[in-house]
Amino acid sequence: MKKIINDRLLKLSGHLLNTDNILDIGCDHALLEIYLCLKYPNFYITGSDINQKPLEIAMKNISKYHLENQIKLLLSNGIEKLDNNIDTLVISGMGAINMINILQDVRNYPNIKKIVLSPNNDFPYLRYEMNKLGFKITKEEIVKDNNKYYLIIEYSKGLEKIDNYFGKLDLNNSINREYYLNILEKNKLFLNKITDINKRDLLEKENMMIIHKLER
Ligand SMILES: C[S@@+](CC[C@H](N)C(=O)[O-])C[C@H]1O[C@@H](n2cnc3c(N)ncnc32)[C@H](O)[C@@H]1O
Repeated sequence: MKKIINDRLLKLSGHLLNTDNILDIGCDHALLEIYLCLKYPNFYITGSDINQKPLEIAMKNISKYHLENQIKLLLSNGIEKLDNNIDTLVISGMGAINMINILQDVRNYPNIKKIVLSPNNDFPYLRYEMNKLGFKITKEEIVKDNNKYYLIIEYSKGLEKIDNYFGKLDLNNSINREYYLNILEKNKLFLNKITDINKRDLLEKENMMIIHKLER
């Protein structure tokens, strides 16, 4: 199949099944929707965006692939227009704070059984808040795309005790390991420049934690 989506969305798509009834919040170009419809025959999916402009681009992309009957688009903020048949939420390519704001009322929608997120930043904060919202990590992985690291994290309903800094990332996996080694290197560079004692202390503690975990 022609490459429609980048490696980040490709990895994310691996967390979605043809039996999932998906709302992709912040669908923008709708390329994930198009990819899934081409991958799975007779697949139906909804994409939403808070802005009209991305939806116009999405519509053009959808028309190009003649998928108007399979992809529904909604102009909507977060989960405000959630249909009862939706059981899976996808949010990708936004900051963690925005994602958590969008999901604040997710408990009011008992049909949601799976949430797949790919935040740009603040991974520990996201893990902490998702646990508070009553979701536990099923799987997670780091993806390197265009020389940047992204988290793809899949949730199901439930509570768990978890280390919010490392989550359930498999540290034997080379990309996951590389992600933490990269933080270590960045912190070392910062440490050469920063004079503020409190900030230095925080970075040093973070480095110690990473070294300790990777050595195990
Ligand atoms: C950077 S794009 C990400 C597109 C795509 N999901 C991806 O991962 O490549 C973020 C999109 O989210 C939309 N967005 C931001 N906040 C939103 C919200 N509260 N509800 C719905 N869409 C939102 C923006 O308009 C934008 O089109």
